Amino acid sequence: MPTSILLVNGPNLNMLGTREPHIYGHETLKDVETKCKQEAKKLGLALECFQSNHEGEIIDKIQEAVKKHQGIIINAGAYSHTSIAIMDALLAFKGAIIEVHLSNLFTREEFRHGSYVSLVAKGMICGLGSTGYLLALSAIADLTKKKTK
Ligand code: DQA
Repeated sequence: MPTSILLVNGPNLNMLGTREPHIYGHETLKDVETKCKQEAKKLGLALECFQSNHEGEIIDKIQEAVKKHQGIIINAGAYSHTSIAIMDALLAFKGAIIEVHLSNLFTREEFRHGSYVSLVAKGMICGLGSTGYLLALSAIADLTKKKTK
């Protein structure tokens, strides 16, 4: 059975491609997910992609992942900066967690500098656009391999 990874994209990331392209780029979410699926295949990972604009749905999905996936890659969008509830859900997940942001949070408004997800993630990649997701997949392949040894 291949190692199974859940990719979570949070609010407004369904608007990628048309939403502030000078910040988030011209690729759509579908483009990003397709690239991630191709990369996951190369790395021998199974990948489930999920997007929601709703905090509770994201929490439900993370809770489901506890029994289903060995790793989570998450871009919780603006919830990263506000949601203790998403952080708590991630705390119940025992596998590897990597946080991704398309933009560089630290060159933007101060309210984006803090992330509750960062407090529970193994690592965080930001500012590299969709490449960040591919780097996260490579990192999580490595982390989940080490864990099964
Ligand atoms: C984001 C950064 C967040 O601050 C913002 O609210 C988003 C996207 C990013 O990927 O750069 O929705 O998570």
